[in-house]
Amino acid sequence: MRIDIATLFPDMLENYLSQSIVGRARKNGVFELECHNIRDYTEDKHRRVDDTPYSERQGMLMQCEPVYKCFKSVTQGRKPHVIYMSPQGKTLTQQRAKEIAELPEIFILCGHYEGVDSRVLDAIVDEEISIGDYVLTGGELAAMVLVDSVVRMLEGTLSQADCYEDESHYDSLLEYPQYTRPEVWQGMRVPQVLLSGDHAKIAVWRREQQIITTYKKRPELLEKAALTHEDLAIIHKLTNDENG
Ligand code: ADE
Repeated sequence: MRIDIATLFPDMLENYLSQSIVGRARKNGVFELECHNIRDYTEDKHRRVDDTPYSERQGMLMQCEPVYKCFKSVTQGRKPHVIYMSPQGKTLTQQRAKEIAELPEIFILCGHYEGVDSRVLDAIVDEEISIGDYVLTGGELAAMVLVDSVVRMLEGTLSQADCYEDESHYDSLLEYPQYTRPEVWQGMRVPQVLLSGDHAKIAVWRREQQIITTYKKRPELLEKAALTHEDLAIIHKLTNDENG
């Protein structure tokens, strides 16, 4: 997969995306990623890329031309899927991150100031993505969130042991609780079943815990999950316990 990111703050992204698990996968060639400074594409002698919006005196907007030139120069006629990080976009989900991970090439545009002139967005953007219903000072943090959530699902990023299929949100359920040594901490024991070595029993316990955790923390997710008769029986019991 190839990822290009257009931003006014490439160092901010480079710093995060060259470290830890994501950095290692990038170094190992699991995906290619380049950050491009939109300021390199302005002809203004002060390297300005913004101006005041028409009909308003306050705030600054990123201008069309530097963004468009950056896009044209980076893509060279290729047609990547273009994503604009914006609080107006659809909220990112694990499902959407998984679909994006299957694309061969994406181009991410990070806005700053009050936003970007709408004409260049109309010209190049395929999809707007938000990371939540709040407003950030720029799209960079959101782009890092998007890239992190996407590349960790590419083959070769996580080890088999860290497989993302067991995690929260993968199938609309939250993850089961996990424990490591010591066996007893401040009087609290690791659940006995996990010490039993009985893998079938452990699998049943984990599924049950997933249902209980999701029911308690994010019950609305259960509406989207594929539930078995056993799962439904657990939910029925939890509801009855709550009601009396
Ligand atoms: N830029 C500013 N706020 C944002 C948000 N919530 N999501 C994505 N990009 C943004």
